[in-house]
Amino acid sequence: MSGAPGSPCRATAGPLPRHDGATTIAYECRGGIDNGALDALHAEGFGPRPTGTDWRARLHRHSLGWVCARESGESGESGEDGRLVGFVNVAWDGGPHAFLVDTVVARRHRGRGTGAALVSVAAERARAAGCEWLHVDFEDGLAPFYFGACGFRPTRAGLIAL
Ligand SMILES: CC(C)(COP(=O)(O)OP(=O)(O)OC[C@H]1O[C@@H](n2cnc3c(N)ncnc32)[C@H](O)[C@@H]1OP(=O)(O)O)[C@@H](O)C(=O)NCCC(=O)NCCS
Repeated sequence: MSGAPGSPCRATAGPLPRHDGATTIAYECRGGIDNGALDALHAEGFGPRPTGTDWRARLHRHSLGWVCARESGESGESGEDGRLVGFVNVAWDGGPHAFLVDTVVARRHRGRGTGAALVSVAAERARAAGCEWLHVDFEDGLAPFYFGACGFRPTRAGLIAL
């Protein structure tokens, strides 16, 4: 999501790495994926348990991009070795529409701005890739997050359970 699908990047715009006591959170676009770590994080957000999904293959095959939030220790080093504490996936129609899915933050990191920062980086990168619209759908209780913290505006949308 840095102008052309396929190229990795570090978040250089949008939220900067956040120093939070002894840890730093860094936001990375299209970075390396550890299937087990992402499966565990996804299960923490959406349950009930890890599914064994090959996230790496799925993301590379179907996504415009994805953003990982990684925690690192006092050294401030981050990246591939940092613990995965947040994730969002950006699906794509190949044109102007991008779709946020699977926004998730590890339980113990919630309520500190990580989720909103992930979405902000994803939106910025989708814009840079030429997208004009970023869609998301969610349950009523998450309106303060998506409308309040992430800047989405309400629209009508539809859904069919297939
Ligand atoms: C939704 C989620 C990603 C938010 O991550 P987060 O890092 O806690 O979010 P932030 O700290 O950036 O939240 C910013 C603001 O959004 C609102 N907000 C965040 N999570 C919320 C929730 N679950 N319900 C209602 N409002 C919420 C709050 O106003 C918050 O500000 P505050 O902490 O000052 O009150 C996280 O709760 C999560 O992983 N949930 C489980 C998975 C899920 O439901 N994902 C959404 C799929 S559509």
